[in-house]
Amino acid sequence: MPDNDPKTPASKSKEERIAEAKARAAAAAQPVARAGGEDESLSEAALRFQKLKEQQSRPSRKEREAALLQKAIGVAPRESVEKIPQAAPQEKETLAVNRREFLTYAWGAALGLALVQGGAATLWYAYPRFKAGEFGGVFTLTSVPEVGAKPEEYLDGKFWWSNSENGLAALYKVCTHLGCLYEWKEQTQRFECPCHGSKFRQDGRNIHGPATRDLDQFIVTVEDTSGNHVDETTEEHRYVVAQEGLIYKVDTGRKILGRPSDPKLQLEA
Ligand code: FES
Repeated sequence: MPDNDPKTPASKSKEERIAEAKARAAAAAQPVARAGGEDESLSEAALRFQKLKEQQSRPSRKEREAALLQKAIGVAPRESVEKIPQAAPQEKETLAVNRREFLTYAWGAALGLALVQGGAATLWYAYPRFKAGEFGGVFTLTSVPEVGAKPEEYLDGKFWWSNSENGLAALYKVCTHLGCLYEWKEQTQRFECPCHGSKFRQDGRNIHGPATRDLDQFIVTVEDTSGNHVDETTEEHRYVVAQEGLIYKVDTGRKILGRPSDPKLQLEA
């Protein structure tokens, strides 16, 4: 009997089918309700976890007191000092090395600068500042005046090339009294200063004042044609040998001061 079979929907009444549908709907809604409950429990747990996290991150009362004390007196309490992170030993070592390197570089630069200055000064003084053939430099002569003849005048070198019975000498043209330029007087065969009347022999010896010393001389070196050293004027040896064929080098940058006047010569004048 198909109308009485409980498995066929056609055998159910309309009220029974409505009741079954409500029951299925209620059953379907039940898991959703359970899921909603679990969500609510999870939300509550998350809220409690957040509160705990905020409580933990919030400074404690002791820490707040320490911070207030530090702010009031400007000194960190011991606990705070202990909590201050210290610089790593490796960083300190790195800073010390950098300081030493800086000092090393500074000293090196100063030493290098001093060496450069010293080298430049040495080169400056070693480099000849006067050219040959101009006053202050070396004059190369090959002429030899006759003994007693008029001395040769070298205006550029500011000296007289004089040959006397004592030998050859390069006499500085400036009077030893007050610096006037004396002249050779053919009539008297001697040098005379126009300023105050000082007189000098052909070899440069002073024979009349007011000059109180002989004429100054430039250093003369003598060489042969092969470049061998033959003679040279010095403080003690003031005249060089006069001989044709020799080469005379007058250094107008090196001067020998005239000796004090000889009283005997003064009397002879
Ligand atoms: S400067 Fe020559 S005598 Fe005075």
